[in-house]
Amino acid sequence: MVPWGCDVGSDMGKGKKRGKGAKKDVVCGCKHVTRADVEAAVDAGATDLADVKRMTGAVTKCGKCKGRVKACLDQALEARAAAGAVAPEPEAASEPETENPLVIHGIYRHFKGDFYLVEDVAHDSENGEEVVVYRKLYGDGSLWVRPKAMFLSPVDREKYPEATQRWRFELQHVESVARRA
Ligand code: FES
Repeated sequence: MVPWGCDVGSDMGKGKKRGKGAKKDVVCGCKHVTRADVEAAVDAGATDLADVKRMTGAVTKCGKCKGRVKACLDQALEARAAAGAVAPEPEAASEPETENPLVIHGIYRHFKGDFYLVEDVAHDSENGEEVVVYRKLYGDGSLWVRPKAMFLSPVDREKYPEATQRWRFELQHVESVARRA
């Protein structure tokens, strides 16, 4: 979990009744990107707006959220720098990360070994539940959906004691082999 956070205002959902808490945290309504998503992107290495756009999908539709997302990004970067100056992040001695961030367009590895690209988050029309839309990065490259909570859940250790990763789907940090300038 990040030891810092951004706190920009959001006009998303003004006057609307549903999803009070979650709605308040949305910084990009078109893509349902929250402050936590932006912070997670910074955690995963984002350093500018282009990174956040690529990793979360924010600011890629109407663009009205650009200022809000940028402000959130700046706060997150500032807070991270400050946290680093005061107390460098510990090297995760024995306690593993407690959060598995969801990054739009992030590449995830399933605990059984295959890779998937998160395309977006959608809502189930029957119950409003958030589902992750993700694409197989093998075989026919088909699209699949799974409840977000399940997608981000830990591996069932009792059922799969031999699993080598903590999360059912784990975010991968794929470097460019061409070393982008
Ligand atoms: S609100 Fe973010 S792209 Fe429209």
